Amino acid sequence: MATRSEIQVTFGKRGYVAPVLVGTEGEHAVDISKLRTETGFITYDEGYANTGSCKSAITYINGEKGILRYRGYPIEELARHSNFIESAYLVIYGELPNASQLERFRNRILENAGIHEALRTIVAGFPMAAHPMAELSAMLNALGCYYPELASNDRKQDLENFDKTTTVLISRIRTLAAMGYRYRNGLPVTYPRRGYNYCENFLHMMFSYPGEDSQIHPDVAKTLDTLMLLHIDHEQNCSTSTVRMVGSGGANLFASVAAGVCALWGPMHGGANQAVVEMLTKIAAEGDDGSKFVERAKSGGERLMGFGHRVYKSYDPRAKILQKQCDKIIEILGREDPLLQIARRLEEIARNDKYFQTRNLYPNVDFYSGIILRALNIPVDMFPVIFAMGRLPGWIAQWKEMAQRPSGRIYRPRQIYIGERERHFVPLTERA
Ligand code: CMC
Repeated sequence: MATRSEIQVTFGKRGYVAPVLVGTEGEHAVDISKLRTETGFITYDEGYANTGSCKSAITYINGEKGILRYRGYPIEELARHSNFIESAYLVIYGELPNASQLERFRNRILENAGIHEALRTIVAGFPMAAHPMAELSAMLNALGCYYPELASNDRKQDLENFDKTTTVLISRIRTLAAMGYRYRNGLPVTYPRRGYNYCENFLHMMFSYPGEDSQIHPDVAKTLDTLMLLHIDHEQNCSTSTVRMVGSGGANLFASVAAGVCALWGPMHGGANQAVVEMLTKIAAEGDDGSKFVERAKSGGERLMGFGHRVYKSYDPRAKILQKQCDKIIEILGREDPLLQIARRLEEIARNDKYFQTRNLYPNVDFYSGIILRALNIPVDMFPVIFAMGRLPGWIAQWKEMAQRPSGRIYRPRQIYIGERERHFVPLTERA
């Protein structure tokens, strides 16, 4: 990171000399951190589309070229040669682990899978119709209550315990997600077993029956693993910014990622994979091949879910990988999905349509992930939960990077006030 040059801007009679920051991939930013002090002006950027909120060494995205790298490694290489746990380690600690580091990390995750019995009563207390994302957020915060030494809100102590907190969270999010599913379906809770990897154990905890030897299809587990790897981090998106924002006030990692789950839940963010399947189901029910829906999306009556991205202005590289995974798993399982045919048709229509071409709207990661998760028998309302499980290592890495900033300043944007000017209180008896 270098300060290469400066930009001079004039505000009325006052000038501001803004340093220009240049990232390692040549991205330029105008540093306005002293703008208000020196000129009285602030910048206005609704939705933060042009605002760099932090310096980060975790993930690089070039939205124009469709590039995504974790710690410098292209996502395509990681998807081909790595796995979720190894890539999680890379994202969190900055380097690929050696064999013993990986073994230790894996073992710590396995050893931490069990949860305090009292937490089961909290999960059991949710109504059957509770949304799994509401449950997950609540349970991650509740989990922190059982580790007061890890969730101290004392920054120094929380950082000293970071390694332990990391494995507790990565391990138990999986147990909590599966446990919620079992309760909602009136099934007994199952715990992980040795010999299974992270995703095999998740599928085991979700779908196995007591007394039966669970049969986890290795290709199913591998597909889920790849899908989660592709979700690990995506720089300063809505949920990650939320995690950093909450953490910047000094909140512990449990509370910060619980907030991240809430931010992820919305249909414009991590809830989009659920929304894609709901949209495809609706299109199928209307007997449409997708063309009528696309017309409605163009006129603003609908939104083509799984399309478009704030950062990618070409094909989302994660969607490219998932499209192939989707074809592969459907073929392996031998279950043709009518929704997949509609999805392919939608993509074809949209990609040949001027509206989508001129706005650079391409399928994003959520367009095919919903169909894959359906093929794996994951219930639709749990799709964002899988996204959250995948994104957790990224949130953890981003929280740590934020917590270790030398300035340690709280995140606190400003605003342009557009409300009433000063007025004076009128007693109730005198109001019209
Ligand atoms: N369908 C139809 N029109 C769209 C869509 C869409 N999916 N996305 C954007 N547009 C239009 C939008 O109406 C606007 O048109 P105009 O210029 O005429 O006003 C133009 O494209 C620019 O869109 P925008 O709303 O300014 O874009 P944004 O950067 O604020 O929003 C987005 C990005 C992802 C929220 C949006 O594209 C969207 O809502 N997509 C559908 C939801 C979705 O799939 N979300 C998952 C994102 S990937 C997972 C993640 O990282 O969270």
